[in-house]
Amino acid sequence: MGDFADYARKDFDKKKNVVASADKNDQKDVQFNVEDAKSFSAPEVAVPDTVVNTEVTAPVVSTGDTAVALGRGLDVGTANLVSSFQDASGNVNLKIQRNAFIDIDCDDYTRNMLTRLGVQYVVVNGRMVVVGDPAFELANIFNRNTRRPMKEGMISPDEADALPIEKMLLETLLEQPKTPGEICYYSVPAEPIDADMNVVYHQGVFGGLLKGLGYEPKPLVEGHAVVFSELAEDDFTGIGISCGGGMFNVCVSYKSIPALSFSTSRGGDWIDRNVASVLGISSSRACGLKEKGIDITNPNGREEEAVEIYYRNLIAYTLKNIKERFESSSSMPKFPDPISIVCAGGTSMIGGFTEVFKQEFEKINFPMDVKEIRLAEDPLYSVSKGCLVAALSESV
Ligand SMILES: Nc1ncnc2c1ncn2[C@@H]1O[C@H](COP(=O)(O)OP(=O)(O)OP(=O)(O)O)[C@@H](O)[C@H]1O
Ligand SMILES: [Mg+2]
Repeated sequence: MGDFADYARKDFDKKKNVVASADKNDQKDVQFNVEDAKSFSAPEVAVPDTVVNTEVTAPVVSTGDTAVALGRGLDVGTANLVSSFQDASGNVNLKIQRNAFIDIDCDDYTRNMLTRLGVQYVVVNGRMVVVGDPAFELANIFNRNTRRPMKEGMISPDEADALPIEKMLLETLLEQPKTPGEICYYSVPAEPIDADMNVVYHQGVFGGLLKGLGYEPKPLVEGHAVVFSELAEDDFTGIGISCGGGMFNVCVSYKSIPALSFSTSRGGDWIDRNVASVLGISSSRACGLKEKGIDITNPNGREEEAVEIYYRNLIAYTLKNIKERFESSSSMPKFPDPISIVCAGGTSMIGGFTEVFKQEFEKINFPMDVKEIRLAEDPLYSVSKGCLVAALSESV
């Protein structure tokens, strides 16, 4: 898993071809107009030869020496953006980048430092802007937080520069469509049950960005995407949960039709914020602590115990909401056979996640018979793969 993630990230980094590459000493800053993010596009991005075979067949267009199936998947996440497409031999190719950026004073010292580090940047309104994974790495060097275009699953109302940054990242992750109007399914949150947020604007913004790139954008509710990628063998019946950075997204599906979808505004960021506040540390440090490889069935010391407490609370909260919503709805289908619950998303990747999930599940009288609770095969890529499955099946 770790190797694959590194590969998908490095592939983006290595191959992207930005105008303001800092690894050339004689390079001049490019004055980058936020209205014209095109200059950041990556026309020659190649793809890794990874990873997953889907059962979906799709038409193949030949583009020079490579052939790819029509249709793209895009996971629009608070923490990560993940694009996917399928090549002619059925391999799914994925790229991932942190959905983050950082802007730095444009002085000689910083410019030289970025040059030494080989970090690529663009100049926006007189400030040097670095996006994606390198922004995250730089933030650690400067001991600063990255700026985030999204918050709690949606485009951030607090971030004036969110749109041009998202545009840059999408251009680099997706490239040009193979044919004009190629379908791109992108993930959107289901209606949140615990926050007064409107998905319509967020969905429209990303639809517009994709249209601007030449795609035909189609939204797909995030939990439903997990069902598409993980529950094919169960005839797309069961529960898909995407445990993300900004939210948890739940979809109860019967034969591929969503019977119940909702999101909650608690996810990995919520854990970080709470752990940070009880331990008196920064959210970034709390996040580092959480991601460093701890096991929440066996927390070691006060810090890890704090992480375990919030994880347990978040899982119990999610299960309680599924139960309550399922029971209070009059239109739920009857599930004749026991179903599977599949968890995806970065927040499900902590050690001991499924064990704690099973422990909390045992504590409530769940309204459906469940035969298994498991993790998605590749939790960080599951939503993008589900979007791709939808796109390929529609592009036939
Ligand atoms: N090994 C790990 N252990 C625990 N948490 C992790 C690990 N790796 C990543 N995370 C957490 O996963 C979250 C990001 O997951 P993901 O990429 O699925 O979110 P997202 O799709 O960007 O967000 P959302 O769907 O909520 O908008 C972050 O909170 C990150 O800290
Ligand atoms: Mg997500």
